[in-house]
Amino acid sequence: MNPRLHRRTYVEVDLARLERNFHTLRKLLPPNAFCCPMVKANAYGHGDVEVATQLELAGVKHLGVGLVEEGVRLREAGVRVPLLLFGIFEEFSVDTILENKLTPVISHWSELEILADHVPFGSRFALHLKFNTGMNRLGFDVSEALQLRDWLDTHQQFSLEGVATHLLRGEDAGEPDSDSGAQLEQFARALGAFQGLRFHAHALNSSAAVQLHARDGRLSYGMRPGLALYGVMPSTRATPKIQLEPCLSFRSHVVMTHRLNVGEAVSYNAIWKASRPSLIGVIPAGYADGFQRQFSNSGEVLCRGRRAPVVGTVCMDYFMVDLTDVEAASGAVGPGEEVVMIGDSHGENQGIGLEAQLGADELARRVSTIPYEIFTRISERVPRHYRRSDGVAGMT
Ligand SMILES: Cc1ncc(COP(=O)(O)O)c(C=O)c1O
Repeated sequence: MNPRLHRRTYVEVDLARLERNFHTLRKLLPPNAFCCPMVKANAYGHGDVEVATQLELAGVKHLGVGLVEEGVRLREAGVRVPLLLFGIFEEFSVDTILENKLTPVISHWSELEILADHVPFGSRFALHLKFNTGMNRLGFDVSEALQLRDWLDTHQQFSLEGVATHLLRGEDAGEPDSDSGAQLEQFARALGAFQGLRFHAHALNSSAAVQLHARDGRLSYGMRPGLALYGVMPSTRATPKIQLEPCLSFRSHVVMTHRLNVGEAVSYNAIWKASRPSLIGVIPAGYADGFQRQFSNSGEVLCRGRRAPVVGTVCMDYFMVDLTDVEAASGAVGPGEEVVMIGDSHGENQGIGLEAQLGADELARRVSTIPYEIFTRISERVPRHYRRSDGVAGMT
């Protein structure tokens, strides 16, 4: 435990698992194919500097960020690999982009005009172009591809390093008459305009990559994995042929217990009342930490590998769990007992725990959201710890 912690609520990220996931995904592609792990949004809450540094050591060739600020943060932390900037930018950001050697993924003519005003002839500035093939978020229209080719031909200070699109429903990739199929057809049309140039064509997010691999055994476009990298199997329709390992756990401890009589309430508005004599544990984590209020009376945690229900309203800094059954099954439970909000229970509590898991995907289903949101909502005030389960020395 980190001695600087004043509260034993923390996220633990296993960098060995992260690295294994990266290699697993990387192997889905032919050697030297484009693979750009996404480390935007603080690496999906896992800690962007640590994740990027680990992936750099593992041999990554590109990393993806969403914001200029995210790219700058990584550069300041010493990350040197090419950083693709997926967010759209304005004129006031261009100096920062150039100074930090960020590689923009361009979606709009305004960005090209800004760059043309700032990048001198004679240089070779790498950029990627993004096409909107149906997502209708970012990207040029496919009908603009030839015009873009002309622009590149007349602006020799720019080199086309990649052409991208983004799928709106990656999990149907490889199926007949799918949205992904229609989008990839449009994408192929756009790519045709850049014949004769050498560049990466990239289109696959986690679900598209896992799905295409499951169906076809090969991937025809480069990949930008996010969720799968962090060890959550994206939604797929064909059975995945790879295994991923969740990297993040979110842990805390019981700080107080209360013995309640039948009829006594827990937390704001008394939405839970004891229907039997109950042992209630108080956990020092709340919605301000990203343990969402929707888990009130509906979430679960692991304690000694057993599931303990969240009871009452989740507060800003605390929530309560019913430990009655845990105690009945495995003996007295008191302050100091570990609880797991996301992740594995390794059976490490005095040898009396069980192996169990509570995945971000399960939490997400419980509150009708997606694991991405569960991860990215874990707030900044929760410290991130890093370890390597394979025992190789690394960051802590
Ligand atoms: C442009 C782009 N590519 C790739 C990804 C990664 O998606 P996933 O986490 O589903 O793999 C994202 C994530 O939102 C994205 O916006």
